Amino acid sequence: MRLTLRTTEREVAAAAAERVAEVLAADAAAVLGLPTGRTPMRLYRLLARLGDEGALDFGRATTFNLDEFLGIGPDHPGSYHAYMRQHLFAHVNLPSARAHLLRGDAADPERECERYETDIEAAGGIDLQLLGIGANGHIGFNEPGPCLCARTHRAMLRPSTRRANALFFGGNAEAVPQEALSMGMGTILKARRIVLMATGKSKARAVARIVSGPLTTRLPASFLQLHRHVELICDRAAAALISDE
Ligand code: PGA
Repeated sequence: MRLTLRTTEREVAAAAAERVAEVLAADAAAVLGLPTGRTPMRLYRLLARLGDEGALDFGRATTFNLDEFLGIGPDHPGSYHAYMRQHLFAHVNLPSARAHLLRGDAADPERECERYETDIEAAGGIDLQLLGIGANGHIGFNEPGPCLCARTHRAMLRPSTRRANALFFGGNAEAVPQEALSMGMGTILKARRIVLMATGKSKARAVARIVSGPLTTRLPASFLQLHRHVELICDRAAAALISDE
């Protein structure tokens, strides 16, 4: 696992934007896996700016988002569809037919999860998976627990995760859906390259445990240690508890 330390959140976003630019420069038709949440907002702002300046071209790219809340449609303001439109898709030349998200309002959620796996495979797999991390060590909506799912699946959200997402539901954690659809650990680990961004002190414990801790379903991100091409980009606050041993 490669560790890239930066001082500020802004620098973390800039480093992640460089990785996206590298991947698209190597293959304009690359497939990107995308996260939501607070962490990637700066990254998306930078990507939009690079797109405006003509330094980045999403015209042949394909994207797959990690997850979506269950029970709400793409037009719901709290949906990750809405988040992606607001923060990235409205600002770059990515063809909408190649911007994939799980449908939270699918009539048959299990079939929707299967469809997503099939679509990712049909696109040739994910070249670069970008990730944020929950303070509890989740990636996507793969929450800590006695077991983890390999494939895209229906997931129950932890109360702490619902609180962390209240921002997208008018500040009301109770309004955050209790379930979501999420890529599984296997879906994520099949990506050819993974970049995890972590910023702020609330992530410091999870980050330290990924770097030095054992593999455990109690910290889903610890499974990233099994991947050959993972980079962890942290700001100073998120890296504060990594020991030098
Ligand atoms: P955050 O969420 O970027 O809003 O902290 C990260 C995550 O839960 O994956």
